[in-house]
Amino acid sequence: MVSSVSNRGIFRQLQPYLVHRKDLGLAFRGSHVESVTDAPCPSGLKYYAADSTTAAFIDHNLKWAIGERAKPAFQFAYLMLPTLCNQACRGCFMGQDKQLLPGRLKGSHFEPAELDSILSFLREHSAKAVVYGGGGELFTWSGAFPLIRQIVDNGLAMVIFTNGVLLRKDDVDRLNDLGVSLIVSMRDTVEAYHDSAVGRKGFRATLETIDNALVAGFREDQRLAVEIPVTTNNDERVINDFLPVMRALGIVPLIEEYIQLSTSAEEKRLCHSFADSRRFFERACEMDRSLGFRWKPEFGQRIIAQPRCRRPLYSFAVFPSRDVVDCPSHTTCYGNLRQATLSDIIYSDRFRQALLAYRLCPCSVFYTPEQAAIPADLPEQLEDFV
Ligand SMILES: C[S@@+](CC[C@H](N)C(=O)[O-])C[C@H]1O[C@@H](n2cnc3c(N)ncnc32)[C@H](O)[C@@H]1O
Ligand code: SF4
Repeated sequence: MVSSVSNRGIFRQLQPYLVHRKDLGLAFRGSHVESVTDAPCPSGLKYYAADSTTAAFIDHNLKWAIGERAKPAFQFAYLMLPTLCNQACRGCFMGQDKQLLPGRLKGSHFEPAELDSILSFLREHSAKAVVYGGGGELFTWSGAFPLIRQIVDNGLAMVIFTNGVLLRKDDVDRLNDLGVSLIVSMRDTVEAYHDSAVGRKGFRATLETIDNALVAGFREDQRLAVEIPVTTNNDERVINDFLPVMRALGIVPLIEEYIQLSTSAEEKRLCHSFADSRRFFERACEMDRSLGFRWKPEFGQRIIAQPRCRRPLYSFAVFPSRDVVDCPSHTTCYGNLRQATLSDIIYSDRFRQALLAYRLCPCSVFYTPEQAAIPADLPEQLEDFV
């Protein structure tokens, strides 16, 4: 047990699951999880989870693409912003660690009127939320809360990926009042390893935001997830420490295979191969079963708590360049808002054809039940991982 372990206070909810490790600082300790039977059992993050509603969106859109429905429908859209970042996480898929940002992240912030028209399109097409997925850290920007307010006032909810470092308790309470779903990002369960991976001292501040969100009650409404990219460096701790602690606290564990975009040759050596990924998912499944959570890994799955990624079939992303793209991993561009309206872009043949041609997201390795199940036509950046 740790007392008064935070820089700025005491971790009220995380404390039973933390230890102090000599020279390494604070660390999650999965063996401190005795039982999770009383913990809430979130099936997925509110607004973001890929669930049966998502499957209905996909089915609807594929029917729309062949003319059997009048209009498409979206679960949410990603809004990417030209926000700076306060961390430099190793292998950030937005290139923030190397200052090699994708060209389409360059551009101005959206004017309120521009944003209003995107929000009306979303409302008219069944969406419930806008997701901030980067590129950078939303809370480095003074316009963050006014933006969230505009989205909420327009009748949509907001899901925010954040490293949590800049959020104080009052901010977390305001986000709670605004009904935001939070995805707080971590890189490791051990302070020294996390800080080394993010290039800053951030572990305790990130934990404090998770703790404040737990105290504020985000979890009761299924609005709290913690995301961790999994590598050959942290996979043992992710299974033995991260997963049990998340389950004990009722937080959605968004454990995901390391995305290969923007990773250097050295960083690629940290990525799971398809065989590593297979073992990882099977072991995570066993750990979850021992904790009372039953699921089976499925072909194509690359995130725990989410099935095979099919995001381009029920969402899209808008970037600061005004490009409208299939997902934040930015592989297929459908058009640009400076040349066409969002409606023209989405109702285009190009968009319909992309829906019909969609097979598998190429951004990272994923679960395959055996070596022979790895698709023969892998995208180039995944070929080295077979
Ligand atoms: C690009 S960040 C932007 C938002 C915010 N700065 C953050 O870190 O949460 C969005 C999410 O992408 C995740 N991410 C970044 N690089 C990744 C990679 N190479 N593989 C998997 N996830 C990654 C982060 O951990 C975070 O959860
Ligand atoms: S905090 Fe987020 S955007 Fe910044 S470097 Fe880390 S993953 Fe990338």
